[in-house]
Amino acid sequence: MSDHIVIAGGGHAAGQLAVSLRTGGFDGRLTIIGDESHAPYQRPPLSKKFLSGEVDINRLYIKPPEYYADNDIDLKLDTRINTINTAAQTVSTDEGDIDWDHLVLATGSRVRTLDVSGSALNGIHYLRTAADVDHIRQHFAPGARLVIVGGGYIGLEVAAVAVKAGLDVHVVEAEDRLLSRVVSPTVSEFYLGVHQQEGVTVHLNAIAQQFSGETNVSGVTLSDGSTLAADLVIVGIGIVPNTELAEAAGIHCDNGIVVNEFCETGTERVLAIGDCTNHPNPLLERNLRLESVPNALEQARTAAATLLGERNAYAEVPWFWSDQYDLKLQIVGLTDGYDQTVIRGDIALRQFACFYLKQGRMIAVDAISSPREFLFSKPLVARKARIPAEVLADASVSLKDAGAEFPD
Ligand code: APR
Repeated sequence: MSDHIVIAGGGHAAGQLAVSLRTGGFDGRLTIIGDESHAPYQRPPLSKKFLSGEVDINRLYIKPPEYYADNDIDLKLDTRINTINTAAQTVSTDEGDIDWDHLVLATGSRVRTLDVSGSALNGIHYLRTAADVDHIRQHFAPGARLVIVGGGYIGLEVAAVAVKAGLDVHVVEAEDRLLSRVVSPTVSEFYLGVHQQEGVTVHLNAIAQQFSGETNVSGVTLSDGSTLAADLVIVGIGIVPNTELAEAAGIHCDNGIVVNEFCETGTERVLAIGDCTNHPNPLLERNLRLESVPNALEQARTAAATLLGERNAYAEVPWFWSDQYDLKLQIVGLTDGYDQTVIRGDIALRQFACFYLKQGRMIAVDAISSPREFLFSKPLVARKARIPAEVLADASVSLKDAGAEFPD
């Protein structure tokens, strides 16, 4: 195939797609258009080892920057797509129009912003890009008072790095527990204890209602009327998919760009991959949008196969991870609708798994520093295994030998 494939977006999904297309034998024109200044890189380390300074940007690249020229990939950085014209098969940029035969939307997501009084003050940061972290790090001085708004993945990973770096860290979380979007109350409680032990002050049921200060933020007023002194604020209150370009072009969107199991949108010759998609998952028997690197990578491979004329339907069980302190949280599956949880291992030893069951079937697992439980759980969750709760709770029985049943 000697067509021109244009990838809109320059993140993880875009990088993987370019690699999969070239390794899959695609020898036509290939262009990546992204508005960041870096070649595609891994985002997860940004709030972890990149923030702490343990790794630099060169360790994050999906492929070294020279890979693109070496593989005849036109990598357009610092370039925004302004519009998509699906009839003319073009995208417009400030430098002019670019024709395509196939367009893949890998536009990802952006941070949800907190628009309250004072939110334009200096010193209020979001964390989504390497450039964001470069700015944040300039203010990461021991003793600095950091208020983090949001006790989810980003907030807690940042809290862990910041408190280790000697900052005075407060986390402000709107819900009555940490990580409430993704884990059970037991796991939330565990993480609350860990952060408190490390010296982080956590405010639950607390909403940041106002920022105060002259030019730089100096305080965050919470819903109970109290004010936390701040030299620096980092907001991590979730992300929203970048669907505006697609919507404006008439491509069907509904909580994400709607695609089928081959990553095709309803518009001919237009595909979409990664965080920005709403896609079917046959294992979960429903459509969903996922904020997940493994999903971005898998959809990139699926889209590459579609473009190469092989039709490999996407069917992956979702998984996620989060590193905080020495703890590795690995999550497989989605917890929606669970009616029972079972703990295996010892919470006090900081090494355990929490199984989520729905009508006796395993739908998700949080493995805390328990990589074996995570590994063995993946196929069990994919097939909604039935294992008696007392066997799940018995850490002396390997999950491999737990006598899983797979009723249909
Ligand atoms: N004040 C305080 N807390 C708030 C507010 C608010 N106004 N609004 C939302 N929150 C809390 C939510 O209750 C939730 O616990 O912010 C937290 C956001 O957590 P996540 O949904 O996990 O979002 P975030 O941490 O920003 O991570 C976004 O980045 O790590 C990647 O893909 C990963 O999905 C993740 C994404």
